[in-house]
Amino acid sequence: EQNIPIITIDGPVASGKGSVSAGVAKVLGFNVLDSGSLYRLTAYAALQQQKPLEDEEQIKQTAVNLKAVFKGGKILLEGEDVTDAIRQEEVGLAASKVAVHPKVRKALFKLQREYAQAPGLVADGRDMGSVVFPEATLKIFLTASAEARAKRRYNQLKEKGIHSNIADLVKDLKERDERDLKRSVAPLVPAPGAKILDSSDLTLEETINQVLEWYRGTEA
Ligand code: CDP
Ligand code: CDP
Repeated sequence: EQNIPIITIDGPVASGKGSVSAGVAKVLGFNVLDSGSLYRLTAYAALQQQKPLEDEEQIKQTAVNLKAVFKGGKILLEGEDVTDAIRQEEVGLAASKVAVHPKVRKALFKLQREYAQAPGLVADGRDMGSVVFPEATLKIFLTASAEARAKRRYNQLKEKGIHSNIADLVKDLKERDERDLKRSVAPLVPAPGAKILDSSDLTLEETINQVLEWYRGTEA
């Protein structure tokens, strides 16, 4: 496990973490870890089981027993295709509520560490560089203005046939960012040594290229 190159991409809601990670991983032939999907799956399962999201013990059990399969771009939960269902803002909001529990984070920690496999890993989330992969080769803190992020999420949901509106999205992402910033365990902060990348005025391709340029700098 020691010499596996790892790139971490952390940042607020809809800053482009997932798309940038996928693009960078494709070029480098690396594995990807979308850590947010694990929090979303935990929240989705807890909602289905009608568990109170503030009950740390109960939600920890849900995280420990999570039976999710990632296959060909699809995510199956106990056999059910939940790929699109977990992308709903409602589930994102619930994810940020289960993510405040230290025991839930600990349960998901081990699962996340297993993704560090050759030839390399690009991991995105909130605490990839600060907590889960502190030894990472390159750490990025990806940001963008709230307006740019709300617009991106709006377009993304629209493509999935999910109806939303910008004003609600701005409200949701601010609420979620605030909870992620203020929690006592693994709050959303740039990891020590992280490079800050503001993508408000960059295209997806330009953002991916900047990360690749920095990564190549680490190899020199
Ligand atoms: O993972 P995260 O929530 O941070 O963002 P995402 O799911 O990757 O969504 C970002 C959306 O904004 C995608 O549809 C991207 O194509 C688009 N986008 C971007 O990621 N970066 C830019 N510089 C411009 C647009
Ligand atoms: O893609 P988006 O930025 O909308 O959210 P996500 O990355 O799928 O994460 C959903 C929620 O899970 C976040 O708002 C965080 O509360 C939580 N999360 C976390 O606490 N730690 C991570 N490493 C990843 C996500």
